[in-house]
Amino acid sequence: MLYIGIDLGTSAVKLLLMDEKGNVKKIVNKEYPLYFPNPGWSEQNPKDWWEQSIEGLKDLTADCDKSQIAGIGFGGQMHGLVILDSEDEVIRPAILWNDGRTVDEVAYLNNEIGMKKLSEYTGNIAFAGFTAPKILWVEKNEPENFARICKIMLPKDYLAYRLSGVHCTDYSDASGMLLLDVKNKCWSEEMLDICHVKKEQMPQLFESYEVVGKLKEDVAQMLGFSPECVVVAGAGDNAAAAVGTGTVGTGSCNISLGTSGTVFITNDAFGVDDNNALHSFVHADGKYHLMGCMLCAASCNKWWMEDILKTRNFADEQKDINKLGENHVYFLPYLMGERSPHNDPLAKGSFVGMTLDTTREEMTQAVFEGVAFALRDSLEVAKQLGIQLSETNICGGGAKSDLWKQIMANVLGIKINTVEVEEGPAYGGAILAAVGNGEYASVVDAASQIVKRKDSVEPDADLTALYEKRYQSFVKMYPALKDVMQEL
Ligand code: XUL
Repeated sequence: MLYIGIDLGTSAVKLLLMDEKGNVKKIVNKEYPLYFPNPGWSEQNPKDWWEQSIEGLKDLTADCDKSQIAGIGFGGQMHGLVILDSEDEVIRPAILWNDGRTVDEVAYLNNEIGMKKLSEYTGNIAFAGFTAPKILWVEKNEPENFARICKIMLPKDYLAYRLSGVHCTDYSDASGMLLLDVKNKCWSEEMLDICHVKKEQMPQLFESYEVVGKLKEDVAQMLGFSPECVVVAGAGDNAAAAVGTGTVGTGSCNISLGTSGTVFITNDAFGVDDNNALHSFVHADGKYHLMGCMLCAASCNKWWMEDILKTRNFADEQKDINKLGENHVYFLPYLMGERSPHNDPLAKGSFVGMTLDTTREEMTQAVFEGVAFALRDSLEVAKQLGIQLSETNICGGGAKSDLWKQIMANVLGIKINTVEVEEGPAYGGAILAAVGNGEYASVVDAASQIVKRKDSVEPDADLTALYEKRYQSFVKMYPALKDVMQEL
């Protein structure tokens, strides 16, 4: 049997075809535009997601026996608000996870409703990228659109709906809406009331590995797939990536160095930290996880290389970097504001510490280090909760750089493992489809049989000590610059 994983990302949709043992047959990538209609806003057109996914599915399966395709699963960019009218037409472009327009709505939720209540209802507080503040923003700023809302869904759920005809979502992705009672895995009546949303407007909830339905007949015919092919709910991209790197069960960690950067720590039981600095979400294996999310990770490097240095030769820029731990330049990676742990949409990116002899290499190194320091901020919160990690898996575009992995291992002081298949969310989505179709007893069972480790980078004691000193300087910089950042 064959399974497909669809990773609905921010710059492209990645599709992966594997057999039931997890052997990857083909990977296809299809890009679509990202719109920034105002500073700090970030939108995409769900029609582009659908059209590119269909093109991708056709390319992906062009040479295989299509009758063998038994299931499709997803990993999807989280938190995006997709709204449909009574004809199931998309009402307005999706407002994405890295959109910072909801400053007022976040302040209303966190200050007037109050963080304590939000945490009690959902296990989380409001962050600008989350879905609930976006619903309030649409209500206030586009009342005519708000009045037309018949269904609310998340980005990957739009694909599942177009493929299967079922309005569905899964618990891991729904956790990031601030509308789910995460602990009890049900919609929070209180939050729906606060956002003036009715339960009928919300999608049906599933575990990530559950079948939501079969392919619609017209879709099966268009693709040449069997109408028996199942669609499983899938997961938010971080939970799907965790499945794809074998980060399931309890107490393990995955770092995703993609457009965003996340630290994802699995947990059998539901839990929150005192300040809700980490997100407390459901995992795709049916249990829970804690997650810190920085909004710009590999995208800082892409911005630095492509927009500033005007090069696409990333490897060439890294080859002369050899003085790890000694850089006097720092980079604050807040190019789209920041989520974890600062919760500050008005934070800005900055270079600090340059002198007349600062080199291009040092500034490039500072970009890598700044992202690693910012991820360490989330790991520090986990440490305060008594979570001790000695290793982590890693995936995402940034994980292709050996230099960046070495910096990460030494800044975090833990071993960094890569797995053989690097497409975390797409692989995870395909694994979830295989579980849903009954190939494996559970997600944990599937991941332990399918996912294989490739190699590891160990931290070096001397470099870790040097980076410890530099991290202590880094943590002082955001508080020192915060006020001026708000004024810019
Ligand atoms: C997680 C988050 C990002 C997106 C990226 O909370 O917002 O990682 O899911 O696609």
